[in-house]
This record gives sequence, C-alpha cells and structure tokens, in this order.
Amino acid sequence: MFAAHQLHGARRIFCGETEKLTSISLWWFFSCHTGSEVVLQPYEQKGAPNNQASKNHKKERASCQPVLDHFDQQYSQELGELWESARSVLLDPHSWQYGVMLNRFTAVTEITQILQSQGFSRFLLRTDVSTLLSDGPSPVSNSKYQARKDSLLSPPSISTCSPDDSHPRPSLQCYIHPYALRFPSQAHRPGHLKQYYLLNAASLLPVLALQVRDGEKVLDLCSAPGGKALAIMQCATPALLCCNEPDPHRRDWLAKTLESYLPHSLNSRVIVSAQDGRHFGHSEALTYDKVLVDAPCSNDRSWLYSCSSQQGEQRLRGRAKLPVLQAQLLRSALSAVRPGGVVVYSTCTLSSSENYAVVETVLNDCPETEPEDLWEEIAIPLSKYFVFSAAHLGHGQTPYKPSLQPQNSTVSSYHHRLGILVVPQPGMTWGPMFLSRIRRKK
Ligand SMILES: C[S@@+](CC[C@H](N)C(=O)[O-])C[C@H]1O[C@@H](n2cnc3c(N)ncnc32)[C@H](O)[C@@H]1O
Repeated sequence: MFAAHQLHGARRIFCGETEKLTSISLWWFFSCHTGSEVVLQPYEQKGAPNNQASKNHKKERASCQPVLDHFDQQYSQELGELWESARSVLLDPHSWQYGVMLNRFTAVTEITQILQSQGFSRFLLRTDVSTLLSDGPSPVSNSKYQARKDSLLSPPSISTCSPDDSHPRPSLQCYIHPYALRFPSQAHRPGHLKQYYLLNAASLLPVLALQVRDGEKVLDLCSAPGGKALAIMQCATPALLCCNEPDPHRRDWLAKTLESYLPHSLNSRVIVSAQDGRHFGHSEALTYDKVLVDAPCSNDRSWLYSCSSQQGEQRLRGRAKLPVLQAQLLRSALSAVRPGGVVVYSTCTLSSSENYAVVETVLNDCPETEPEDLWEEIAIPLSKYFVFSAAHLGHGQTPYKPSLQPQNSTVSSYHHRLGILVVPQPGMTWGPMFLSRIRRKK
C-alpha cells in the first residue's frame, strides 16, 4: 500500500520551454565543493585551468590533519599501494573530475553539441553496460502490486518505448572530460526543467547495479539530495519510485531536486517519504522490486576538508557507530524487498568496516539472501573508466561463515561477491564508491 501520510507535500510543477544555453553563455568553472549545485569560480579562459585560480583554489582547501592521519593509518593497511595514489587525488581537489548527466525530460541536443565541442565524451555506452540498462518492462512482477502497476502502465509495448508515451524513452546519458573541467550548474528558473546534473560519475554505478526496469516498484531508502533518484529516472520509468529521507532540511533539498528535473506528469510515480529508514522494512515489508541503500557514511572527500580539527575529530569519534546504522538500514531494505528482488548497498567511503564488513555481517544474519558478483558484471566491463578494488582477506571484523562460501567458489570470487570499490586514481579520479548487490531468495 502507498502510505499517503508519508508523502512530503506536493511536488511543484516545472514544465515548458527548456532553458537555452549557448556556447557564449557557457563559462568554464571549477568547484569549491564536492557536491552538485555548488558555488563555482570561473576560469579566465576556456580549456586549461588558470594557474592563479588553481593556486587560490588549493589554498582555500586545506585538508584536516587529524582526518588525514586517521586515513593514512587505516587505508594504507586496507588498500596497500593503492592508498598512496588515492591519497594524492583526494588531497588535490583541483584534479577532481565531474560527470554531466543529461536530463531526458528536456531537450538536450544543444547541450550535447556544446559538451562535445568542449572535449566531453559520452560514457557508459550501451555497449559497455548492455545488460544493466532498462530494455523494456520488468520480466518479473510482484503479484501483490500488479493491479496498481497495471493501472499506472500502458499496455505492454515494444522494448524501445517508454510505458508512458508522453515521456521520452529511458536513456542514461552522461558526459565526462579527460581533465578536471567542469560545466556550470544551471540556476533554478521557475517554469524550466534543468537539462543536466553534475555528479561524481562513480555515483551512477549503484544505479546501474540496481538494473531498474520499466514498471518496477523502487525504494531509494536514503535519498537526499536526490542524484541517484534522478539517475534511476533516466534509466527507466518505474511504476513507483519512493524517495525516502528523514532529515527535514535534506528532504527539502531532495524535493527541490525532483521538482527541478522531473515533469509534473511523474508526480504520482515519484514520491517523497520521511521515515527513519531503519523502520521501513517493518512498515512496508516485501513490497519493492528494487531497493537502493545509499547509506550515510564517512564521506572521505568531505571529511578530509572538515572546517576545523575539532570538527574532523568529532566526525572520527562518531565513525565507529556508522557500521551499526548501516547494517540496520541494509537489514531494513532486505525486509522491504520482495522475494526475488534485489537490494544495492552503496557508500562513498573507502573504509572496509562500512563496506564489506557491513555486507558480510548482514549476510550472516539473513540466510534468505545471497550476494551477487558485480566484478564480472560491472568492474571488468567498466575498467576503462574506473579503478576497482575487491575485498581482500582480513578486510572486516566479522569471521567468515563457511556456509556463505559456495563449495565450488574460490575465496576471491566470494570476495568479489561482497562488493566492489572504486578507488580514485590520477587521471581517473572517480570515487570513492563502494557497491554491493544482494538478492532476496525467498
Ligand atoms: C549518502 S547520502 C544519500 C545521497 C543520495 N542517495 C544521492 O544520491 O543524492 C545519505 C543520506 O542518508 C540520510 N540518512 C541518515 N540517516 C538515515 C536513516 N536512519 N534512514 C534513512 N536515511 C538516513 C542522510 O540524511 C543522507 O541524506
């Protein structure tokens, strides 16, 4: 049942003529912040970064020594040699790359031409990720919700059509640049949907791993500010996307994101909910086809640039509590998903105690679930874009449960199935991003 009391207000309507950007109005910028929708500084010239601007930028971003010391100690053990090069990327925000995800609900031809003329190229081509992207309606269905879905969907259509003819067909289009150049954010303009969203391209991987199909019922358990919810809506047209966020300020941000990118006609399909994600599994058990748990975590990039040593130390003190919350959220998600459905768990930290160890702890508790191998499906095909690392022996704090290791499986394939980690490296600065996919068998 759709819990009407959980809806967070009505989404405002933005539609009509799309904003026109010309190459003249486009400036080159680089960021003072890691997120989307941030304050930007113009380059003096198009193309290569301006030296003085780069120096000022670096000066503004002093790293937090207690956090760096902590990372050095932990990550050199967990990542070995990869940590030195990841560290150099994290300490040089000037090198960070940004992806430009186009919004299929707007006209993007002109933006595409501008991006291409500036040296951006399309990434995650269909040939790279053919099995991951929507290719028509879901082959499976949850009978309990089929009636509702049937009322939301048009009759079955050929696979190239969206279930709703008024919407352009699903198409995930993201552009990246080989250098750390960044498109300007689009300012909000009433009556106009935004044409693109800036993100760390590794953020798309949990969404690809979710493999959302048209007509499915999807829960984004930790949703604000909404970047992955938007990516889901580029990949497919679900019957329902429930975007949950308990923090009121972040929920407002989420609602604003959805309003700025999605047409009014999707309001009945994309809803905002305000629950504590740890309770979702009880209130809406066995309900969703797919659940994304993009968990609160020690965000390595932003923690490294904590405002002060005190803030950094305070964050580090709270770090030990995160795996407990993350495991609760993951268990709740596994309760909310229907038998046969999948949960993707993701974080933007390199920390194995928030990644592999959380997944392993929850798998030990939930015999009705099994991890799936993302190494073959994602890490190998996408290794030209990202540097991946898999779990290694002794990664976590929980002992291995032999029953979880298939008899015919090697130790390394077992570790691949716990999850994959994108480690930022020079020239491929995407990440950190951990993702794991777990299927509920019954
Ligand atoms: C990593 S962010 C999510 C980013 C988002 N998925 C995106 O792509 O834009 C984690 C979010 O989880 C939220 N959160 C924290 N505690 C939570 C809880 N108990 N249940 C659900 N969400 C929670 C935080 O407020 C935060 O907005």
